[in-house]
Amino acid sequence: MKLKYGDKRALNGINISVSKSEFVALVGDSGGGKSSLVNLLIRFFDPSSGKITINGTDIRDFSLQSLRDSIAIVTQRVYIFRESVAANVAYGKEIDEQKVIDALKKANAYEFISELPEGIHTRLDEFGANLSGGQRQRIAIARAIYINPKILIFDEATSALDSKSELKITQAMENLVKDKITFVIAHRLSTVQKADKIVVLKHGKVSAIGTDEELHISSSEYLKLKGLQA
Ligand SMILES: Nc1ncnc2c1ncn2[C@@H]1O[C@H](COP(=O)(O)OP(=O)(O)OP(=O)(O)O)[C@@H](O)[C@H]1O
Ligand SMILES: [Mg+2]
Repeated sequence: MKLKYGDKRALNGINISVSKSEFVALVGDSGGGKSSLVNLLIRFFDPSSGKITINGTDIRDFSLQSLRDSIAIVTQRVYIFRESVAANVAYGKEIDEQKVIDALKKANAYEFISELPEGIHTRLDEFGANLSGGQRQRIAIARAIYINPKILIFDEATSALDSKSELKITQAMENLVKDKITFVIAHRLSTVQKADKIVVLKHGKVSAIGTDEELHISSSEYLKLKGLQA
């Protein structure tokens, strides 16, 4: 599969298969093509040649609605609106309180939410001003859990977080991945250790694929990213 932005080739000759329940990490230098790959999955762009299929069906044959119901993205830019925690988690869908609480628990967010004056009925500030970065991100994870998508994409944004929040988010992520296909764009390679498949992208191509252990042996690029080799 290929992706061009105008004349510029962002991805070239990408061929990856992912199975149910797999946890896939995308790693690589800046500009390597990680976000481009994710943009293709959510049909922000379509490939210039080749295709992406889910269970054999070209994703262009799904309606955008069904694609949106099957894929959730958690990015570093989390939009919080001036509504209750519950409404922020349900995000346009009908609010089922028990489901909201379950989602918050899985996202490692219920603890701090239950300490708010009105629990899940507490109204949040716009832009989440009364929440920390890590708390906002855990609300975004709860939102993704609430949708219960088949595919979850996580643009890891742990660099701005203290190590305690980072650990909470990593744990929340691990709670999530069990019955889904998960893609994590990992900036910190410590979070990808448990991935079933790590895809190393370089200049728009797959430079190596394997588990952490396999890549230690097979990929000097991976060792470089891990800071283990010059
Ligand atoms: N909308 C766009 N228009 C034109 N070129 C783009 C666009 N988005 C990305 N590119 C280019 O495509 C290539 C791949 O970029 P991409 O954003 O996928 O990299 P990345 O691996 O996500 O990098 P980072 O780690 O910095 O987020 C880069 O050369 C980039 O400049
Ligand atoms: Mg990117």
